[in-house]
Amino acid sequence: MRLILLGPPGAGKGTQAKRLQESRGLVQLSTGDMLRAAVASGSPLGQQAKRVMEAGELMPDEIIIDMIAERVDQQDCRNGFVLDGFPRTTRQAAALDEMLKRKNASLDAVIELAVDEAALIERISGRFSCAKCGAGYHEKFQRPKKDGVCDVCGSTEFVRRKDDNATTVAARLEAYRNQTAPILPYYEERGLLRRVDGMADVDEVTRQIEDVLASL
Ligand code: AP5
Repeated sequence: MRLILLGPPGAGKGTQAKRLQESRGLVQLSTGDMLRAAVASGSPLGQQAKRVMEAGELMPDEIIIDMIAERVDQQDCRNGFVLDGFPRTTRQAAALDEMLKRKNASLDAVIELAVDEAALIERISGRFSCAKCGAGYHEKFQRPKKDGVCDVCGSTEFVRRKDDNATTVAARLEAYRNQTAPILPYYEERGLLRRVDGMADVDEVTRQIEDVLASL
């Protein structure tokens, strides 16, 4: 199965993609995570990504398209994947179609997580993750079972993303409105778009996604 999770920053794409990876063995392909790994490596690409991400802008299409094209060719993606944060522009959407066509493959669904902007700010400002294993948490909505200890690996070190500040979040939302939201009609016209209520709690969103997948 090949899926796209679409939605603005903080909509819950990463949270739900991880769950789909665990429950269905779909590989989570997060362009944001790939770029953060490049930043951590200090490579020239990482240095560029750091500037762009901290400004809340989008990386150039050709860099992102090459990154995804290389990744979907890898063996572990053969049984399916869930795209989290890609495509983000009409050019990326068209490039994904080309990529899949070359492989004689197609998308099964594009799932939009619909959320109010006010909720996004609260979600993003409360987000943190485990410094060791990357498990994601939220101060209010998804606290570790034991305060200060990661549920998954037991680490006591947590980190926050540099781009989760008010100025950058405003720029990220604007990039979503101007560059990413326009791809929704592209998928709607092709009968691929399914909407779920991203305002519901995490388990309910997962249930709605499972309903969508069961209906395919
Ligand atoms: P990226 O890492 O993709 O960030 P984003 O799209 O801004 O999305 P987020 O990761 O902030 O949110 P999410 O929807 O995954 O929500 P999450 O599950 O974490 O991209 C970062 C940057 O990289 C971009 O700004 C751009 O510069 C660059 N980039 C990436 N891809 C690119 C591309 N294709 N082209 C060009 N540039 C690109 O949830 C958020 C919080 O809310 C968490 O704390 C979670 O616990 C909580 N939460 C989740 N669901 C719920 C719920 N239902 N109820 C309550 N709380 C919830």
